[in-house]
Amino acid sequence: MSQRLRIAITKGRLLDRSLDLFDQMGFDTSQLRHPGRKLILPIGNYPLDAVLSKAPDAITYVEHGVCDLGIVGKDTLLEQGNSGYEVLDLGFGRCRFALAVKEGTDFFNTYETRRVASKYPNVTKRWFANRGLDVEVIQIDGSVELAPILGLTDAIVDIVETGATLKANGLVPIETVAEVSARLIVNTASMKLHKSQILDFITRCEEQLREDAL
Ligand code: PRP
Repeated sequence: MSQRLRIAITKGRLLDRSLDLFDQMGFDTSQLRHPGRKLILPIGNYPLDAVLSKAPDAITYVEHGVCDLGIVGKDTLLEQGNSGYEVLDLGFGRCRFALAVKEGTDFFNTYETRRVASKYPNVTKRWFANRGLDVEVIQIDGSVELAPILGLTDAIVDIVETGATLKANGLVPIETVAEVSARLIVNTASMKLHKSQILDFITRCEEQLREDAL
């Protein structure tokens, strides 16, 4: 008999897109559409409860096995690392990590140590280290675009979706650091313990994504 499994879903845009996918898959998401202050809500006609959380916490819950599955952005997975399985690119939430500078800045043409602001210091440090470039990374928690405008840094590494935020603040992207989209992750122990149930869910997602692509 199926037992109810848990899926941690990142609140915000990814939650909306996840519920759209679930609706297409024939799942009853009515309770999830109107959560009120509730944080754990059932899918009506499938043995899965959704746990609404912030992306880093969703990864933590899946890593510790208190949630069997998770839906999180590749941006957070790259920043935080993930010891579970990343099983599926869900295709939505597409954007990229870009290195951006103030228009007219020749970022690479200097021997001085450059400063780079980011909400994603691990991603940023790794990318520059792989290129053998010496940079000082300064962590900023919101509106990273301000750092070069205020003269704190020479560049930023941040999420770019439409490019509108960069443009509105006189910044231009000069390199793509990584492509980002929503990913389905699975706890490694759950995958063994509840293999057929988890594979059923993954297969249903895959079939729907294939249908959407046609
Ligand atoms: C992200 C990112 C940029 C913006 C880019 O912030 O940090 O500021 O989106 O989007 P655009 O290229 O379409 O303009 P988000 O809105 O996710 O808010 P956050 O700062 O809370 O992460």
